[in-house]
Amino acid sequence: MADPKVTGLRSLELAVYDLAASTAFYAQHWALNEVSRNGDHAHMRASSLEHHVLTLHQRPKAGIVRVNFAAPDAATVDALHAKANALGAKTNAPQALSAEEGGGYGFEIVAPEGQLLRISTDVVQHASVIGDTSRPTKINHVVLNSVAMEDQLRFFCDVLGFRFSDFNGHMNFIRCSSNHHSIALAKADGPSLNHVAFEMHDYDALMRGVGRMRMGEQELGWGVGRHAGPGRNIFSYFVDPNGYAIEYTADVDQVDDSYESHTAEYWQAMPLRPCSWAGAKTAPTARMREAMGGKLVEARNGQVNETCDDAISNKMAG
Ligand SMILES: [Fe+2]
Repeated sequence: MADPKVTGLRSLELAVYDLAASTAFYAQHWALNEVSRNGDHAHMRASSLEHHVLTLHQRPKAGIVRVNFAAPDAATVDALHAKANALGAKTNAPQALSAEEGGGYGFEIVAPEGQLLRISTDVVQHASVIGDTSRPTKINHVVLNSVAMEDQLRFFCDVLGFRFSDFNGHMNFIRCSSNHHSIALAKADGPSLNHVAFEMHDYDALMRGVGRMRMGEQELGWGVGRHAGPGRNIFSYFVDPNGYAIEYTADVDQVDDSYESHTAEYWQAMPLRPCSWAGAKTAPTARMREAMGGKLVEARNGQVNETCDDAISNKMAG
């Protein structure tokens, strides 16, 4: 196969401190539906046919467990695997995937900054969509904080077949479908999750989702507004119980191969800043910024360390 490519973003898997509390939050407030639970993890679906879009794993420390991408068929999975190996990437062998995760066929690969990714095909789909348009339809994009930005960019483009969409001076936006970006890389002091965006059917659906979150006493961290930057999507950001930044988004630019990238200067000169609407939060709250920088998770993970260290020193002292 001449030029195998990943063709979509399937799901994100996150480690959480309390599986029961996190699944309750994502079911009641974020409006995902639990598909299955098996010991220390649970799969949750959105309203589209995709088997699941979010998997939560109970772990002592929070962080990204895996990002899952789609390939069109088994031949492409095999070709991507061969290409990844030829380019020196760390992979496992393509294999049948567990029925509990929707089955299918795929392999795992490690990104330069250590994130575990899986490329899969033939995953079982649900028989029907969920007709409630106030629910998220799917994952639209994942933004990764990055310190080795060039290595990450080269990996996604050269190994997985992503195309470059835009750079705004802070973030590189790359795509694997008509969606302007499925992955973005944000300049940071280390790798972590910047945010994960869930797609809403349209603006009205997004406002209904935001309304549900606010009725549930979840603080809006930024928005509602439309980015004057790459993707030009409507956005609203919240913080989940673990400290992850999560977004409802709608109306992201859809592009094709004729799309021309713009410079950081172009985006920084865009009119309509600040890019939030009347009555909205025109800038991220301090807590929202911390969440996007991965700092809330980092701080809480640090407490886990202290607790372990304390436990060890107490034991030794005893
Ligand atoms: Fe976003």
